[in-house]
Amino acid sequence: MDNSLNIMIVSDDEALMSQLMTIAETKADRVIGVKSKDAVREMNRDIVHIVIFVDTDSDTSVEIVQMLKVINQNALILFIANESDFSLLRNTTRAGVDEFYVFPEESGLFSSRFPNTVKSYAAKKAASEESKTLSFGRGRGKIISFYSGKGGSGCSLLSSTFAQTMKLESSAEVILIDLNGQYGGVETLLSIESNRSLADLMPVIDELNENHIRNVSQTQEHSQMEVLISPCDAEVLETLNDEFIARLLRTCRRTFDYVVVDLPSTINELVVTAMEESDKIYYVLTPDTPSLKILKQYEELCERLGLLLSSRMEIALNKLSKDYEVKQKDLKNVLRYPVVASIRQDTKGLQPFINQGIPVRKLAKERKMIPFAKDVRKFAREVAKQ
Ligand SMILES: Nc1ncnc2c1ncn2[C@@H]1O[C@H](COP(=O)(O)OP(=O)(O)OP(=O)(O)O)[C@@H](O)[C@H]1O
Ligand SMILES: [Mg+2]
Repeated sequence: MDNSLNIMIVSDDEALMSQLMTIAETKADRVIGVKSKDAVREMNRDIVHIVIFVDTDSDTSVEIVQMLKVINQNALILFIANESDFSLLRNTTRAGVDEFYVFPEESGLFSSRFPNTVKSYAAKKAASEESKTLSFGRGRGKIISFYSGKGGSGCSLLSSTFAQTMKLESSAEVILIDLNGQYGGVETLLSIESNRSLADLMPVIDELNENHIRNVSQTQEHSQMEVLISPCDAEVLETLNDEFIARLLRTCRRTFDYVVVDLPSTINELVVTAMEESDKIYYVLTPDTPSLKILKQYEELCERLGLLLSSRMEIALNKLSKDYEVKQKDLKNVLRYPVVASIRQDTKGLQPFINQGIPVRKLAKERKMIPFAKDVRKFAREVAKQ
């Protein structure tokens, strides 16, 4: 059983952040530091056991603490205020704060008590895990996005085949979400005809739960994965804001093991939010010079947007053919991100599937698999191991 603790420090003040980091890092292997605006997102991403929360300047603390508690009610929350304020103490305690300190006066007290706080939390956690005997069920699902700055690289085909493979070859719960907002995406590849789309979740977004999602999603008949199609009308898609996408993805993460997202090439607020929420972004790259140029532009854009890619972006090479074989080795030298998949060009194998709109994978043990499906399987197995 995993007894290690994850600690998250939430602070908008850099000096305080580094001070707290130093204290926390002596007691846990995994300590992350985030700004208050990112706290809820990070809490959703991974199980956080102990949160050290520094009061924000903008009266948002109580609200954020409440949300963190909803995500993990067992999390221990240590609150650090910068002045002693009785109503703040009362409100944060009500929101679920376990210990309250006023800095800088009580920073000494905090560091001396911290080791014991961690120790007793770890003991409590171990005891409750023992009594529950493996009833921990599913953990937090992973959000995996497929993106390419260049249209036609194979994002839709790859993401949908990846999702089918994951569902067929494991016991994982999988949902495929299409955010393209146009015809010719996932619904065409899977011959899904439906008048329901993820935009139908708009009215219930504030209370979104698993049932809402399953009511709108389609179960793909062969693989039994769930599919949420995008509204075909780009204008409708535009009415969905970043808050909507964040909530949708977070709710899916709690229900499904893998949330596979097919992103359009155009970057907008919605796409950026989906990328921010993602654990992994697989950039679909075809081995040619224009694609490499577009990848470079994408990297620069992300830097400007403050979107951190280093820990989550990986490259899926698609449409590899003999003519490019030498280049593939060169590619690995110029790319700044690891290559996780190499998928062959397989026009002949894919043709009947694309033309008839049938999914590339139908059975767990397929008798004859086309090269494309084999390469995707290898990719999916690699991801499943992580
Ligand atoms: N490995 C491959 N071998 C042969 N053809 C492929 C391969 N991957 C994708 N294709 C073909 O490339 C075309 C574009 O694929 P797809 O629609 O998945 O790309 P996309 O990146 O989603 O494009 P869009 O920008 O339109 O969303 C399709 O006709 C598809 O069949
Ligand atoms: Mg597409």
